[in-house]
Amino acid sequence: MRVLIAPDGAAAAEATAARIAARLEAAPASVLGLATGGTMEPVYAALIDRHRQGLSFAQATSFNLDEYVGLAGDHPQSYRRYMREHLFGEIDIDPARCFIPRGDIDPEKAAEGYEAELSRLGPIDLQLLGLGRNGHIGFNEPTSSLASRTRCVRLSASTLEANRRFFDGGETPPTTAVTMGVATIIEAREILLLAVGAEKAQAVQAMVEGPVTAICPASALQFHERATIVLDAAAAARLEYRERYEPAGGTAP
Ligand code: GLP
Repeated sequence: MRVLIAPDGAAAAEATAARIAARLEAAPASVLGLATGGTMEPVYAALIDRHRQGLSFAQATSFNLDEYVGLAGDHPQSYRRYMREHLFGEIDIDPARCFIPRGDIDPEKAAEGYEAELSRLGPIDLQLLGLGRNGHIGFNEPTSSLASRTRCVRLSASTLEANRRFFDGGETPPTTAVTMGVATIIEAREILLLAVGAEKAQAVQAMVEGPVTAICPASALQFHERATIVLDAAAAARLEYRERYEPAGGTAP
């Protein structure tokens, strides 16, 4: 596990975008694994800037990690809509090659269908990940089996609380989601996890320096051969082995 620490969130997002762009420049037909959440917004903005300067996504394929169950694809909080607004609508990626788990059909069928698409078009070359405050990746909440595959999951109270801010006052946020499993995620050839802000510091410490355990699903990345964790100073604040980690530069290794 390689840990890179940037001075602030903007620099961490820029370092993350630079790595994705470098991967696409080297291999334009890459299969990208994509994530949602507030953390990814500046990453996608930086990729859109690069696209305007010539970076092409035309040959790429993408797989998103997860989707809420029960939201139509055009619901403002659906991850389909998020991806359209924050990335896909602004770049030249082929919409037919952008895969997101279906939240609007029987969740078991959605999960099964997603694993089938992943085996047909995968493995994922570069998987981008955010981190839940409770150590989740995708929507693999604490106690998720490290051998889990794409499936329907119940969201934890802390995730419901963290994501409630995105939903209108009168609306009940979904309590279940379809997510790629921990084992599905770590099949990616390379993983790039970005975490910023003090509210992620405890989960970061558990992921990087704690035991590998289903209580912190992100700790499974310790077993991955090519996992890079990009942090800002606030998210890195609780790490103990500081001398082991590197400053984040703007370019790919
Ligand atoms: C959400 C998503 C995750 C995301 C995480 C962090 O619930 N399912 O894929 O990484 O929580 O979100 P944020 O970046 O908004 O903190």
